[in-house]
Amino acid sequence: MTIEGDEDLVGLARAGRVVAEARDAMVAAVAPGVSTGELDAIARVVMRRCGARSAPRLTYGFPGWTCISVNDEAAHGVPARWRLLSEGDIVNLDVSVELDGYFADAGVSVPVGEVSPEASHLLVATRLAQAEATATATAGRRLGDIGRAVEHRARRSGFSVITDLFGHGIGRALHESPAVPSFDDDSAVVLWEGLVLAIEPFLTAGAPWVVQSPDGWTLRSGDSSLVAQHEHTVVVTAAEALVLTA
Ligand code: CO
Ligand code: CO
Repeated sequence: MTIEGDEDLVGLARAGRVVAEARDAMVAAVAPGVSTGELDAIARVVMRRCGARSAPRLTYGFPGWTCISVNDEAAHGVPARWRLLSEGDIVNLDVSVELDGYFADAGVSVPVGEVSPEASHLLVATRLAQAEATATATAGRRLGDIGRAVEHRARRSGFSVITDLFGHGIGRALHESPAVPSFDDDSAVVLWEGLVLAIEPFLTAGAPWVVQSPDGWTLRSGDSSLVAQHEHTVVVTAAEALVLTA
């Protein structure tokens, strides 16, 4: 969506704060032996207290309140009480909500206890890629500049970008146009003031594509390599983008 006035900005910022609160509560609970179902329940409590609804549940009938993806799972992992985190895993927590008609979306990949140096490096590079991509999201720049920044960071850090997962417009629905590729697609789309985007690069040390798991939801890396994602909902302005899910 494009923000039309203060009411839109206030509504989106409120949704963004619920997302951030749920995400931070989940991150704080990540530890070896904790299940992804328990983490999901933490987010559910925050959403209910704030009067918000899970966006993937509302939009797609997703069987969880949040998407929790472990190691080679890139996205849309289904939380479960039997799915225990282990020391050395990396886990992605992706939270999106609807509150009073506004949608916000954020994700973070974090270590479970001590992780390998390569995993740790991947987490740092992915976070940086998201920040550097957000820094290019200024009115008047090309949409492709966002993906160019992601590619540049991935290459400099020795990783690949997953090219079949995209960021997206957001605001009145979870997934709106435009799609935001994590590579420069040479599109002529120019960013405008007030445009709301979820910028979410996925980086991996292996194959730059994902495959669907038999559960019908989970997307895994094509060659079982680790994948990390970092995502924020931002508003494009004439200056620095406004991050609503910090
Ligand atoms: Co997300
Ligand atoms: Co998203």
